[in-house]
Amino acid sequence: MADQPYYYVTTPIYYVNDVPHIGHAYTTVAADVLARWHRLRGDRVFFLTGTDEHGQKVARTAEDKGVTPQEWCDTVAPRFEEMNALLDVSNDDFIRTTQARHTAGVVEILETLNANGALYLDDYEGLYCVPCEGYYTPAELVDDAGTPGAGELCPIHKTPVEHMKDRNWFFRLSQYQQPLLDLYESRPDFVRPESRRNEVVAFVRQGLEDISFSRSKITWGVPIPWDRDQVAYVWPDALTNYMTAVGYGTDQARFERDWPATVHMIGKDILRFHAVIWPAMLLAAGLPLPGGVFAHGFLLVGGEKMSKTRANQIHPAELVETFGVDCYRYYFLRDVSFGPDGSFSWESILERYNGDLANDLGNLASRVLNMVERYLGARAPAVPAAGDDPAVDKLVDAVGEAAAEYGRLIDDFDFDDALTVLWGAMRAANRLVEDTEPWHLAKSEDPADRRRLEAVLGAGLETLRIVAVLLSPVMPGACARLWDKLGLDGSPSDGPVPAAALWGGFPEGTAVTKGDALFPRMDAPA
Ligand code: MSP
Repeated sequence: MADQPYYYVTTPIYYVNDVPHIGHAYTTVAADVLARWHRLRGDRVFFLTGTDEHGQKVARTAEDKGVTPQEWCDTVAPRFEEMNALLDVSNDDFIRTTQARHTAGVVEILETLNANGALYLDDYEGLYCVPCEGYYTPAELVDDAGTPGAGELCPIHKTPVEHMKDRNWFFRLSQYQQPLLDLYESRPDFVRPESRRNEVVAFVRQGLEDISFSRSKITWGVPIPWDRDQVAYVWPDALTNYMTAVGYGTDQARFERDWPATVHMIGKDILRFHAVIWPAMLLAAGLPLPGGVFAHGFLLVGGEKMSKTRANQIHPAELVETFGVDCYRYYFLRDVSFGPDGSFSWESILERYNGDLANDLGNLASRVLNMVERYLGARAPAVPAAGDDPAVDKLVDAVGEAAAEYGRLIDDFDFDDALTVLWGAMRAANRLVEDTEPWHLAKSEDPADRRRLEAVLGAGLETLRIVAVLLSPVMPGACARLWDKLGLDGSPSDGPVPAAALWGGFPEGTAVTKGDALFPRMDAPA
């Protein structure tokens, strides 16, 4: 398809100093839903994730473990790939910053920046947070209570910063204040949500300082091509992954075809790197800018940020084991609003499982399929057209409106509201069943009752089909199982939407099977 839209979505590349926890999985699952949603729409999609393997933080972790940095990276990077497999993540590529295809691109961008006069050598002294791999001014540092300017702790990690002195290659970030402000002005969607955009604009308005882009005291990184006593600072190295994965520095034809990215999905902790430094680097290198950046909030556990030191990290496998991967994916997108910080709790995931999945979705599927088996010989009746029965019409309208609204909300990164809207359609179908009582209609000899029975069950099946299509980016496994029960050909993710989710697609006469419950109810753990 010549005019097929292109959608390129990324996650941050994760540091390998830590094994994956639900915070990493949160960004990855959200990006996966977007990738799957765009595939469902028929777009050409490229979905990238990977690992960030250079820098002081990784080098120190390796040293603590008594192995070389590369050995350490080779141990931890596969854990992120396992997380992706466990969570049904459909990434098209997995980039590691120690791969030759990546380091070639880092060399290319450094040389381009240097050739364009964007780098210079200078002395630097500053306060550095190793977990952030970033510098802070004294005014930004906090005390134990989090008061800015009152202490020597990193505002994000609340750990002490280190005094650093070095002779480094600097990037002329200060020259990009106005071009960046112009960018945020001309493309208001470049940073989303709006609250984050305002934060970035306010930060850039205060003025920007040049930033050190190399390190002389560490060796774990990409050597500066013209000054091999220095290695690239981890951030320009890491950010470049978004381009090296699509051929920057190795395959120019592919790069021209597949860059720029449509959206970088990130957590709020790395907003400045993506919304300020990254576009400035691209402007300085004369390269196209991405479509934008979306920064979500943090997942908290018991009201606190997860960290190794607090020992409150939760790993995806613990939850998948109990609730399954579909509930895992659904829960984080439905229960935590995408943008602000949110909390994880065992009580709330159990409630979502039993309430939304076992009760609303599971119950709708099992009761409709059960009645089609019992009263209609397990064959799908015709999908009722609008205009025959006011109760059925109400459902047809509710499903049509929900489908349209759902797409709009997903495109707006508003996952929780999108799911709420879709659940509204399921509840409307459950209500139709309760109001029309098909079990009574089935006993009647009156042909009008028979017609109504078929209309109600046909409407129930058609609602389930549309739900399976629309929900497939969020719960690919459960929707495929539901599709099988409905006896439909192909898969719910074949799309394309919106056509595949329009009322009327269920083929009459299809053989359905109720089978096991999609989501058997679960008791609270003793
Ligand atoms: N390596 C850098 C990113 C480079 S991107 C070019 C990095 N890595 S990280 O391992 O620390 O992961 C950061 C990302 O993981 C966050 O931006 C966020 O997307 C995700 N999360 C890590 N902990 C999180 C929570 N507790 N909650 C939600 N997401 C969080 O920074």
